[in-house]
Amino acid sequence: MLAKLDELCAKSLEAVQQAANTEALDAWRKETLGRKGAVYLMTRQIGQLAAAERPSFGQRINAVKKELEAAYQRRLAELKAVELRAQMASSAIDVTLPGRPQWRGRLHPATQTLRQIYRIWGDMGFQIYRSRDVETDEYNFELLNIPQHHPARDMWDTFHTTSPGVILRTHTSPGQIHAMREYCPEPIRVILPGMCYRYEQITARSEIQFHQVEGLAVGKNITLADLKGTLTDFARRIFGADRKVRFRANYFPFTEPSAEMDVECILCDGEGCAVCKHTGWLEILGCGMVHPNVLRNGGYDPEIYSGFAFGMGPERIAMLKYGIQDIRYFWSNDLRFLEQF
Ligand code: DAH
Repeated sequence: MLAKLDELCAKSLEAVQQAANTEALDAWRKETLGRKGAVYLMTRQIGQLAAAERPSFGQRINAVKKELEAAYQRRLAELKAVELRAQMASSAIDVTLPGRPQWRGRLHPATQTLRQIYRIWGDMGFQIYRSRDVETDEYNFELLNIPQHHPARDMWDTFHTTSPGVILRTHTSPGQIHAMREYCPEPIRVILPGMCYRYEQITARSEIQFHQVEGLAVGKNITLADLKGTLTDFARRIFGADRKVRFRANYFPFTEPSAEMDVECILCDGEGCAVCKHTGWLEILGCGMVHPNVLRNGGYDPEIYSGFAFGMGPERIAMLKYGIQDIRYFWSNDLRFLEQF
């Protein structure tokens, strides 16, 4: 009987080592140490022994139980470690995988052009002066020498609001009056950037909203030569030192004399092409000497002070620089367009 017990013990110890996973180990435990397991069945046979042999058999059975239980615990710890390692290996993060690229935004082409313009004027001593988008008829027109019913009003198709006399500015020029009234009688060198609004048919060349950068210099002894020199320098800095420019006489109610400045066509180098309508020139801004009435409306005595002013469209400048065919791209939020800049 003892020999049978020893044999059971040895076999079980061998089997426990062969349990390949915790499930197999559980099954082993049931068969061996469970309520109807092999060890239990041995205890049942105790009755068949002579009374004298029973105590030592009982002791031996208890020792075997203990030994098997210990073997079970050892194997369990081993298998758990193996399984944990396998689980970690299979669910680990692979740090050698290439990362997901971060999507990087960028500045809008209009903003890029505006900043380029700010830099150039900043270098020449002009400060940025911000002025309101919602204006009065008085500032947008009347104080700029454009009275009610004057035919020049046709140059600006206007968005009116439900408040009488309150409009969206059609140009940045009303900022000239705000700046003059704030600085008078000090000399002024400012640029006035901002969004303008016009009640127009939207086409490849015109939008209902667009930026302008206005410029204003007021002081004593400012002449047309200052205007020409300063604007020529600006054009060279933004379009390149070799670009030719020319001034053409024009009409604006708030300047006298008035002009438009053209640059040699960037796309055909002045040869003539579809963009410059075969003239070799591109119009980039309006300018002139500030009209005496406008100086007066700003608080300056035109007998003592003079000044020049100009207004340009940064989107138009960007279109010329980069060969953009349609102004509507700027505000249609199409990433395929925006990502090119
Ligand atoms: N305000 C004009 C426009 O929107 C542009 C302009 C022309 C501004 C001549 C000026 C200027 O300051 O002197 O069409």
